[in-house]
This record gives sequence, structure tokens and C-alpha cells, in this order.
Amino acid sequence: MKIVRIAELITNAKTLVEKNEIVTIKGWIRTNRDSGKIGFIEAYDGSNIEGIQVVYKSESTINFDEAKLARTGAAIYVQGNLNFNSRNSQYEIVATEFKTLKQSDEDFPLQKKQHSMEFLREIAHLRGRTKTMQAAMSVRNRLMFAIHNFFQANGFKWIATPIITSNDCEGAGENFLIQEDKNKPFFTPQASLTVSGQLNVETYAQSFGRVYTFGPTFRADRSHTNRHLAEFWMIEPEIAFIDLPQLIALEEAFIKNICQDVIKNCSEEIKFFTELHPEIKDRLNHLVSKEFKKLEYRDAIELLKKAVAEGHQFEDNDIFFGKDLASEHERYICEKIFNCPVFLMNYPKDIKAFYMKLNPDNETVAASDLLVPGVGEIIGGSQREDDYNKLMERTKTLNIDVRSIQWYIDLRKYGYYASSGFGLGFERLVMYILGIENVRDTIPFPRYEGKISW
Ligand code: 4AD
Ligand code: MG
Repeated sequence: MKIVRIAELITNAKTLVEKNEIVTIKGWIRTNRDSGKIGFIEAYDGSNIEGIQVVYKSESTINFDEAKLARTGAAIYVQGNLNFNSRNSQYEIVATEFKTLKQSDEDFPLQKKQHSMEFLREIAHLRGRTKTMQAAMSVRNRLMFAIHNFFQANGFKWIATPIITSNDCEGAGENFLIQEDKNKPFFTPQASLTVSGQLNVETYAQSFGRVYTFGPTFRADRSHTNRHLAEFWMIEPEIAFIDLPQLIALEEAFIKNICQDVIKNCSEEIKFFTELHPEIKDRLNHLVSKEFKKLEYRDAIELLKKAVAEGHQFEDNDIFFGKDLASEHERYICEKIFNCPVFLMNYPKDIKAFYMKLNPDNETVAASDLLVPGVGEIIGGSQREDDYNKLMERTKTLNIDVRSIQWYIDLRKYGYYASSGFGLGFERLVMYILGIENVRDTIPFPRYEGKISW
């Protein structure tokens, strides 16, 4: 008998019921309860979130007793007829035959009650079987596809940038160093895991005009916040011949496009998360239909000063031009003042990376972060400094080892007219779209300080 996936059964349910066809599934048990002569299994096979109810009866199910003994987590085989249950308005399988393919031990940690996300994080090898993680990973999967689709449809080439590198793109000193044989180093200078593929991808923007890299990124950042991981995925496009306002327009079109894709293709998952966090419905509608706010950094400082003057208490109330805004300030701007995504633009040069283009005021750089309610910064982007001498000067002022990036600075000597790009934190995007409170629950196996099991 051909095994059919549950999602397919549900899609074709009407016809299957009309024809009274026998169907067969293989999957696992989420819950199993029986009341003597009849029992109900909530089964899933991963093809949808809800799974399907299996009804087994003493009078008509082969191996009825086996079904009664099958525990949560067990792998099962079910054959039966599809039926529309008018009490809960859902399709179910009325089993004619049941088999336990592999029983699950009694200590299986995912029992019926709701588990906290903290508890689930401690069983990362099993938490993928919960509806919450299935829904989140399924949206993550679709987003990955939508992102590649967007770029491929718009003439971008995907470039594999190296994971082993000798540069610290962001200059934040967060590189994980690669340990080598002390007597015989493998690499000189010292190698580390990449914090960003930007410097390398910029080279190919000068080759293809539009490129992107999308891969794992590593930062030895010890901050224990709800939005920092030591290993995360970043999407980094780089486009030749565009400036900051054009980059911001692309970012907005890109975010809208991929969100639309998810709304269209992940309706079951979105419904699941909307029940947990009703606010995401408005959030998603707003995301795709309304324009994002654009705000000068300078003006943001004035708004924050005003908030303090009017009595708002931040943990850090010392607001001045030149301040590197903390998450509480960023979130106040996008949550309390505008309640929508906000592009903050033209930051003071001293709080931003060496490669950003100096504005004519000699004080700010053509950089922009995208701040969103509930998360804070999800994108960091900029126009790149295209002037060789200015870039060299910045590198030296910031005490960056020129030897490791001379090649990058040299790009400016060979027809580097303009180039802009951004980095989107993939996990933060998932957090934002689904209203997930901790970034650790947006990736199958989160890495953060002290956590490296699994
Ligand atoms: O703002 P960042 O540091 O920008 C760059 O790395 C640039 N080189 C990007 C570019 O222009 N090509 O990082 C970009 C984004 C952040 O906005 C955030 O969403 C995410 O990467 N990010 C993290 N996500 C999870 N955990 C961390 N520790 C993160 N650090 C940054
Ligand atoms: Mg940033």
C-alpha cells in the first residue's frame, strides 16, 4: 500500500472521503488517549503542523490493543478510511489496521502539557518534534527559499564567501580564533571564523554588479540578550553603482517581497503563531502594505532627548549626538514613537565600521540600520567608501592591521565607482515575523556562550 503524506491527504480529503478510499500513513504519535473501546491518536509525519487524528476502535481496528499501548513519540503505521468529523470540522483517519513500528520509552520528555521554551532548549535533539519548532523551522525553510528567489529573480549571483578568514570586517574584535598547531602554523596571519562575508563579496560586486552571500557567520559576543547568537546566518547583498537611498529602497522591497511569500506559502504556520502572538497579524499586514519610516540619526537623537525631557526613563538617559544607541533606545524609536519598521540613517562615523562612506559633512557616514518593533536592529547596511586615500586613513585611524585588508583597499584603485550593501540577520528576521521572543528558538541548534551540546 502506498504511503501518503498527511498534508497530501488533507489536500485531497474531499475526494478520498467520497470514494471511501483506504489510505496509509507512517508517522509519530503526539498524543494517545483511549476510553475502553475507542481511542484517539494525534499523529504527525512532518508534512503539516497539525497532523491528523487517528481513531481506533476495538470492533474494527486490527491490533487495537497495540494501538492502546503505543506511547507519545512512537513511530506508527496506520491504514484506514478518511472521515470528516463534523464535531471539530476536521478530517480524521478511522483506522482499519494499526502497527507500532517502534515504541517510545516512557521517559520521553515531550508529554502532552505545554513546555516552556527554556525547557525545550535543554532538549534540542527532541524539540524539533514540537509544533512550535516545526512551525518555526518550516517558516525558516520557506524564508531561505524566498530570499534566494528574490535575488535570483532580480539578477543577483550567489557568491560563496569564506568561513575561514584573516580579517575582522566589523572591527569589533569578536572573531573566534582558529587554534592551530603551535609548532607549525597552518595559516599566517592568524585565521578566524568570519564575522561577515562583506569584504569578500564586495570583490564580486565589481565582477557581476549584483551579488549576495548567504551563509553562517560567527561572533564571539558574550552578551546574553534575546537577540545574540555566537553562530547565526546572514544575508549580505552587494550592489555596484548604487548609493544609500537606493540601497534603502532595495531593502524595503526585499523585506516586503519575502514576507509576502511567507504569508502566501506558510498560512498554517502563521496561523499557529498568530494564536500565540495576536500582534503579528497587524505586524505582517503593516510590513507588506505600509511604507517604512526613514529617520536621520540626528533627528532620532532629538526625539530621544525629548522623551527624556518629558520624563521617560531609559536605563541610560545620557543621550547626545555621537552616542551608540542601545537596544532600549532603538526599540523606543520603532515601538513607542513610530510603531513600525524604521530606517535610521547617517550615523556619526565614530560609532560605525571603517568601510562606510564618509558624508560631505565629514562627521557622519552613509550608513543605515533597520530597526523593528520587538527585536531592534535586524539590518545593518551602508554605502562603501570608494576613495582609496580616505579608506586608508580610516583604517589607520582605527588601528586596523592594513596587511590583512590591503587587497580590499586596493579594489578602490581599479574602477570602484560606488558600491552599497547590507547584512540581514536571518534569525532576527524569523523572530520578527513570528513574534518569537528569543533568537535561540529560531535556529535548530543555538550556539551562545557556554552552550555547545548537540
Ligand atoms: O550590523 P552588522 O554587524 O553588519 C555587518 O556585518 C555588515 N558587514 C553587513 C554588510 O553591510 N554586508 O550585522 C548585520 C546584521 C545585524 O543587523 C543583525 O541582524 C545580525 O546581522 N547580527 C546578529 N544576529 C544574531 N546574533 C548576533 N550576534 C548578531 N550580530 C549581528
Ligand atoms: Mg550593526
